[in-house]
Amino acid sequence: MMLTDKQLETFEREGYVFLESAFSEAEAAMMLSEAMKVYATDREEVWREATGAPRTAFAAHRYNDAFARLGSHPRLVEPVMQLLGEEVYMHQFKVNAKAAFDGDVWQWHQDYGTWQRDDGMPEPRAMNIAVFLDPVTVANGPLMFIPRSHKTGVFDAGHDLETTSYPLWTLDRETVTRLAEDGGIVAPTGPAGSVLLFHGNLVHASPGNISPWNRTIVYLSLCAVSNHIRQFKRKEWIAHRDFTPIQALDDDCLAPLVAAHATQVAAE
Ligand code: SIN
Ligand code: MN
Repeated sequence: MMLTDKQLETFEREGYVFLESAFSEAEAAMMLSEAMKVYATDREEVWREATGAPRTAFAAHRYNDAFARLGSHPRLVEPVMQLLGEEVYMHQFKVNAKAAFDGDVWQWHQDYGTWQRDDGMPEPRAMNIAVFLDPVTVANGPLMFIPRSHKTGVFDAGHDLETTSYPLWTLDRETVTRLAEDGGIVAPTGPAGSVLLFHGNLVHASPGNISPWNRTIVYLSLCAVSNHIRQFKRKEWIAHRDFTPIQALDDDCLAPLVAAHATQVAAE
């Protein structure tokens, strides 16, 4: 799947593109049921909130067939290759839960700030492409962006090791205030199956989820192969060290799993 000229223009100007319902409801429902199976394990890659609710499952593309296929899905891999003009590898893969009532905040940050400081990634030639597995609404802790904040490079940040269960290089309030005065704040919402593509330097955050609805989102962080990381401080299942170019699968690669899931639901 390639981006149109208009989508390319939007990405360049705003730092993100929203692709409503890029995946079908059936594809999203199948992956959501797989996410719940992953969260039910006690794998070290599954991180939890203070309450014990799941926060994120790293590297699920390595131990779950549905996420393995999603990690090579042409609707995700091709637009990022198009934008980076090069083959890509998987720098990070995570399934973020933002669980009903318990999902905690993600403070204001830039992902490339972490990739540069912690992983020695040379350039911001990497980005996130996210798939909603639940409907995302204003109520269930949507991702919030400061449009156009990707234009100025990496901002100073402090290493927050305390406020949540996940260490993050976070921006100070003055910087966020100044950027938001210019760009405003948007929270793209939409049905399960929608896709959000955003620049590695785009400033983003998400509030806690006190609604009764989960907000599960899968994030592929795809990096240009020549821009692979040079520093290996984080666990290899958080910042991957396999720089093999991803070979995109066929567009219908999830279909057998969707069919099996439908059969199983019908039998229940
Ligand atoms: C992230 O910024 O990496 C995740 C934020 C979220 O899932 O809300
Ligand atoms: Mn982030």
